[in-house]
Amino acid sequence: MPDAKVTIPELQARKGTRKFTMLTAYDATIARLVDEAGIDAILVGDSLGMVMLGYSGTAPVTMDEMIHHAKAVGRTAKRALLVGDLPFMAYQADPAEAIRNAGRHIKEAGMDCVKLEGTVKQAPIARAIVDAGIAVIGHIGLTPQTAASLGGVAVQGESAEAARRILDDALAMEAAGCWAVLMEAVPAPLAGMITQRLRIPTIGIGAGPDCDGQVLITHELTGLFPGFGLSWGRRYADAGALIGQAIRQYAADVHDKTFPAPENSFPMDESILRELE
Ligand code: KIV
Repeated sequence: MPDAKVTIPELQARKGTRKFTMLTAYDATIARLVDEAGIDAILVGDSLGMVMLGYSGTAPVTMDEMIHHAKAVGRTAKRALLVGDLPFMAYQADPAEAIRNAGRHIKEAGMDCVKLEGTVKQAPIARAIVDAGIAVIGHIGLTPQTAASLGGVAVQGESAEAARRILDDALAMEAAGCWAVLMEAVPAPLAGMITQRLRIPTIGIGAGPDCDGQVLITHELTGLFPGFGLSWGRRYADAGALIGQAIRQYAADVHDKTFPAPENSFPMDESILRELE
């Protein structure tokens, strides 16, 4: 019997008392491992563009690609709160389209809420989705979908003016009704101050220890993906090296004929073969 499903009110109630964990998953195998490890929330992030689909960034990821992967996670995870990312241009152009795409994550993929990247300018879109009855996380700081206009993949908010903009973005997302704000690549003291100022939880990636929750990319944490260029993570395993070693050993065993062995083969009564001669 799995533990009870994690809910948004439960994570909100933990603000300032008990930190929560979030990790990415894009398929059934990783979703099961993350869920069974007791992680509180699973993000089907548009980082799947690089990790699963081989794109050089997140901008090309489509809504259909997100739904394809989110469905696999939605079918598998039983306990964690599920968060579906809205990819570039799934929400920016038109609030009605934003609501429809957010609704696809809930209806088709079984997600519990959605995440969108935004500044003050996207707050009305976040509000429209919230008003349609869908919970939203506002992603601020480094927003990879529009990284080119932020000067590439880099720490944000280092000047007084840039720090003020990030604080304004956080306050705008809270005012728009977001249930949490995710901060990416924001200096730790600024993220700590924003965490203090907001009533809703903050979730950090490269945003220091004071956020209410932490998120990492599972493929980076386990050594399956080389990394995204910023030193926010910690590699807890080198599963990539382990898998590479297993694959090379398989090839060597095939070449020197130690695989398949008798226990990997199916026997047959020799008399049947003789009948075929
Ligand atoms: O898409 C993603 O995986 C994300 C994380 C960087 C938080 O947005």
